[in-house]
Formats: sequence, C-alpha cells, structure tokens
Amino acid sequence: MITETNGHRHLLSITDLEKEDILSLLDSARSFAEVATRPVKKVPALRGQTIVNLFLEPSTRTRMSFELAAKRLSADVINFSTGTSSLSKGESLKDTAKTIVAMGMDAVVIRHKSAGAPHMLTKWVDCSVVNAGDGMHEHPTQALLDLYAMREWLGRLEGLKVAIVGDIDHSRVARSNIHALVKVGAEVLLVAPRSLLPEGIEEMGASTTGSLDEALEWCDVLYLLRIQLERVEESRFPSLREYTLQYGLTQTRWSRLKRKPLVMHPGPMNRGVEIASDVADEVESVITGQVAAGVAVRMAVLYEVLGGSYG
Ligand code: CP
Repeated sequence: MITETNGHRHLLSITDLEKEDILSLLDSARSFAEVATRPVKKVPALRGQTIVNLFLEPSTRTRMSFELAAKRLSADVINFSTGTSSLSKGESLKDTAKTIVAMGMDAVVIRHKSAGAPHMLTKWVDCSVVNAGDGMHEHPTQALLDLYAMREWLGRLEGLKVAIVGDIDHSRVARSNIHALVKVGAEVLLVAPRSLLPEGIEEMGASTTGSLDEALEWCDVLYLLRIQLERVEESRFPSLREYTLQYGLTQTRWSRLKRKPLVMHPGPMNRGVEIASDVADEVESVITGQVAAGVAVRMAVLYEVLGGSYG
C-alpha cells in the first residue's frame, strides 16, 4: 500500500507497493491517459489542492511531467528551484520544507541527491510526499511509467524478459524497476561489468551477466541506463570507449539482431555511449512514449495520494 502517516498518503518506494497496487495504478493511469486526447486536457479531480515541486537536483522529464500532471488534475502548482531560494543562503532542507508547507501545501513532490530525503520529509511536514528520485535509492514513478509503457507496447508484464544494462550500482531507476518488475512477475537480467553491480543485487530477485550479446538474444525488453558521469568514477571501467564496445547498443549489434527487443531508456541519453545515435533515432518512439506515459502515471499517483474525485 501507499505509505500513510498522520492521515497523509505518500509514495516513497516501490517496496511499499504490492503487485495489486502497482497494477491498479497502471489501470488508473490508462484512464488518465485519455484526458490527454480531449480538446480540454483537464479534469477537476484535485481542484483546490496545491502541490509543490521541490526539485533540488536537475530534472527535465520528471519535473515537467509532475507539473503537467498536477495541472491536468486542476491542482495549483508551485515550482521551487534551489538557485533562487534561501537554500543557497544555507537554510536546511527541514526549514525550507516547513516554510513552504506552512503556506498551505497538500503535497510535496521531492527530488534530492540524498537517499531517504523523501522519507525524512514525511516526519517534518503535514502533507503528502511523493519521491521523484532520491540519490541512488529509488525513483518509483519512473518504474511505474516504464511498466506502463512495457504493458502498452507488449501487452503483458507477467513473464516478460527484461534486460537492464549499465550502471546498476548508481541507478535509482534500476533499483525501482527491479523491485517493480519482480513484483509483477517479470524476469530481470542485469547486464553490467562486476564493478557496476552492487554486492548482493541478486537478492532482489534478478539474475546477472557480463554479456550484452547473451542478453540481447534472451530479452523482450532492453532497458538501457545512462552512465552517470556525475556519480561514477571512470576507474570503474577502463574508458567510455571500452564501455561502449562491451555494453553499448552499437549499430553493429543492433543490425545483426534478427529478433529486435523493445528498447527503452529513462533519459537523459548519452548518445554514442550506451546507445548509438542512429539507433536512438530508430527507437525514439518508445523512448518518447515513456515520457508521455509519465504524465498519465504521475496523474494516477497524485490522485491516489491526494484522494481526489475523478470527474
Ligand atoms: N528519467 C528522469 O528522471 O529524467 P529527468 O532527470 O530529466 O527527470
């Protein structure tokens, strides 16, 4: 279940959700996706409620889609950015959050570089909290939108073979996706050099391999991760060129595949590193489909935590 404290509902981690909760959010997202096809792309579900986007790390997709999701539900939205705030004068996250919420917020959507920041926030503020990515811990709405896109494209999740390739160790996207995919009955294969696989990752229910070519023969979905140049020290692998040769979806690899998997990427992409630029262009519709799914999924999440009425 979505976590509940002091009468407020939160989405902090995929681990808090059961399989039924995940499938119910995906079904709800499908209803909300229909709103985007209307001439007036709005429903009054969260009219009168106020949501703050507290993004303390860079974001394009997640911040904009949470804003759009809130607006499509008729909520009022405030966007908070670090550079122009009193955080730059040394104010703590706790004081900043309490100050914002004192103005009458119903939900805080938070992205933060530290794992556990959204959880801490639930102890400090009297409103709902949604995790939009916390350090190397989790990115639950990314996993939900990825499952939504997989189900829309391939028609099922149960038994789906998903290979997640790249920097598993630093990836909150990988962590949330592994939890979510295992819960819904998909098979997960992690593809990375040993230096980018955290100790004990198999305990989450995923298998591992060092061979992308083996994974490509096996998978229905190839989920490529960005090499997080801002978090990874290059010493984890010999060079970016070597990484691309071993773990990149190069044009040569892509061309020789007889059965092509669905290629997904959470963005932003490092073209020429984890994916060749011309392959990225070829599979663009799925990757932009993930972004579009993000709005509907985040509408479903905001609706679920804020308990609106869908009209
Ligand atoms: N996938 C993702 O979280 O992208 P942003 O960093 O642009 O939000």
